[in-house]
Amino acid sequence: MIPLIRRIAVLGAGTMGHGIAQVAAMSGYEVVMRDIKEEFLQNGLDRIRASLEKFVKKGRMTEEEMGRILSRIRTTLSLEEAVREADFVIEAIPEVFDLKAETFRTVDAAAPDHTILATNTSSLPITELASVTSRPDRFVGMHFFNPPQIMKLVEVVRGDGTSDETVKITVDLARSMGKEPVVVAKDVPGFIVNRVLVRWLNEACLIMEREGVDKLLIDAALKGRAGLPMGAFELSDFIGLDVMRDIIEAMVQRGFVLTPCKSWSQLPSEGKLGRKSGQGFYDWSSGRPNIPADPDAPFDPLEVLSMAINEAAWLVRNGVAPAGDVDKAVVLGLNFPRGPLRMADEVGLDRVSQVIREKAERYGLPEYRVDPLIEEKLRRGELGIKAGRGFFDYGLKEREFGPVRYREIPPLAWIIVNRPEKLNAINMEVVEGIMSALDEAKGDGVRVVVITGEGRAFSAGADVTMFKDLTPVEAFELSKRLNEALRRIREFRKPTIAMVNGFALGGGLELAMACDLRIASDRAQFGQPEITLGIITGAGGSYRLPELVGVAKAKELLFTGDLIGAEEALRIGLVNRVVSHERLEEETRSLAMKIAERPPKALEVYKALLNGTKLDMEALAFGLVFGTEDSKEGISAFLEKRKPEFRGR
Ligand code: COA
Repeated sequence: MIPLIRRIAVLGAGTMGHGIAQVAAMSGYEVVMRDIKEEFLQNGLDRIRASLEKFVKKGRMTEEEMGRILSRIRTTLSLEEAVREADFVIEAIPEVFDLKAETFRTVDAAAPDHTILATNTSSLPITELASVTSRPDRFVGMHFFNPPQIMKLVEVVRGDGTSDETVKITVDLARSMGKEPVVVAKDVPGFIVNRVLVRWLNEACLIMEREGVDKLLIDAALKGRAGLPMGAFELSDFIGLDVMRDIIEAMVQRGFVLTPCKSWSQLPSEGKLGRKSGQGFYDWSSGRPNIPADPDAPFDPLEVLSMAINEAAWLVRNGVAPAGDVDKAVVLGLNFPRGPLRMADEVGLDRVSQVIREKAERYGLPEYRVDPLIEEKLRRGELGIKAGRGFFDYGLKEREFGPVRYREIPPLAWIIVNRPEKLNAINMEVVEGIMSALDEAKGDGVRVVVITGEGRAFSAGADVTMFKDLTPVEAFELSKRLNEALRRIREFRKPTIAMVNGFALGGGLELAMACDLRIASDRAQFGQPEITLGIITGAGGSYRLPELVGVAKAKELLFTGDLIGAEEALRIGLVNRVVSHERLEEETRSLAMKIAERPPKALEVYKALLNGTKLDMEALAFGLVFGTEDSKEGISAFLEKRKPEFRGR
């Protein structure tokens, strides 16, 4: 509870009202719930009781606690009585402006001077509602999400006259109710979440209507490729198509630029309201439709989500909320795995704008205008994670170690061999550079290391100019140093990925093979051409290659020195994946990010186990022994100067 507020009046005992009343009472506030009919109040109370009983059944609350919570809720039919002693009023009556205005006029007259009036509206202008009262400074939007008992998000919406103090109290109040408030600094139609929601749901619907793309495919891609909990059509049905129609209508009326798809009006007019009526975009008559998430669905979810991203950019540019808050609101309000702006940073703002531009060229709708904030970021090179900065800052750290560039964007580090004019041929400076970069990547922020090459080669191998007039002893020393560098990569404590962007030949292939995983561009070429120079591999080729592709295939590659393409490399197990050259970086990043989310210690243990590193095996066993009781006993006994008693545990 927060000090200034003890009593809360909740106006309306419907779906939102009863839920808000319950949450307030559960947070220790005295609640008066008001509705216009006794049966509405009773119904609200019954639902609260049923919800609390569930908590009790699950053991998350005792009977006594439930009793105390219920005893904090009073009901009344009188509006004046409900607000007479309230410190805070939350209105949750039907979304009809005149009805709300009339209610607030009465409330304003009956409530104490200090009382803050909040409306749970999702579509009406806060400023206009505030203007019917004598206290626009103590008037605020407090938009809960359905069901209020569960959804964490509360949009705290500032009207033109709302004071800072009112915003602060409302934010504190929401927090004290266990909610995560996001301040909506401007009273724009749809606030944050509904603006973003309407954009992508409508876009999915437009794509289906005008391009004939199967809704099931769109939903499967949104779930499987973008990780959304529900597809666009599934979610629309879930919310209710009449509700969607009303939300969109209200927003468009208030100036939201959108070309609504036809289904919003057509389906409800046929009685198809979605889940609640059994029919909507899908058939719900025998339960939730089965829409499998398909990670390989041949539909790019960005076709839909680019519009959510563009809207999110609009919100930031117009000062409605900072990027972090916009993303937080969408994550909490729509259960997105990541906010739209973070998604934009992941795929790259260049791709986002390209998708929107193509829509503009094809369909010319006014909403297909890349937001100026995105344009500005493109101009500044803030393309997203790959640039170290987009809507968010990714803590980019760059260093040059001679011909090796180190680029850290936590949790990833990129080691880039940078001698493109010599196809990244490996000389001693490159070797030393890689080792220094690896040292840098030991830092805490880094979870996964990606090694790649600048230009059209990963690396075309050891720099042949070094070989001229090399004595056997010098060659031995050279190979030893090269081997040491590659061993360091192999035994590096964090996972390493070779992003093979082109030629990986000789020492270049050995470098790629020293990494844990290899992702290849479809343009990559592989080979151990040493034999054609009259020499043999000197950095692990003769043992690492057969490990990966088998002895017979290794012999073929080593004996002939022939190059093979990426598909063949995939077929024989030399690389883990082949992706189109254009998507190489994105796919590599996405794989690296996935691994970066896994527990680092477990990954380290896996590396040691799979690499069969003897030293590490013993170290692992050493660690394990410390989990035994006998080890504790032995060590304590020694320190306490007594004889240990080992029990075999
Ligand atoms: N060592 C030193 N320089 C190398 C090199 C290597 N391993 N691989 C390529 N380069 C240099 C080339 O000499 C050329 O330099 P230049 O412009 O000063 O003449 C530059 O990189 C570009 O290579 P180029 O041969 O012109 O490109 P290409 O597309 O015609 O051929 C390859 C590409 C990879 C087929 C060819 O460069 C090649 O066979 N390289 C040697 C591969 C090799 O034998 N590696 C094992 C070494 S143990």
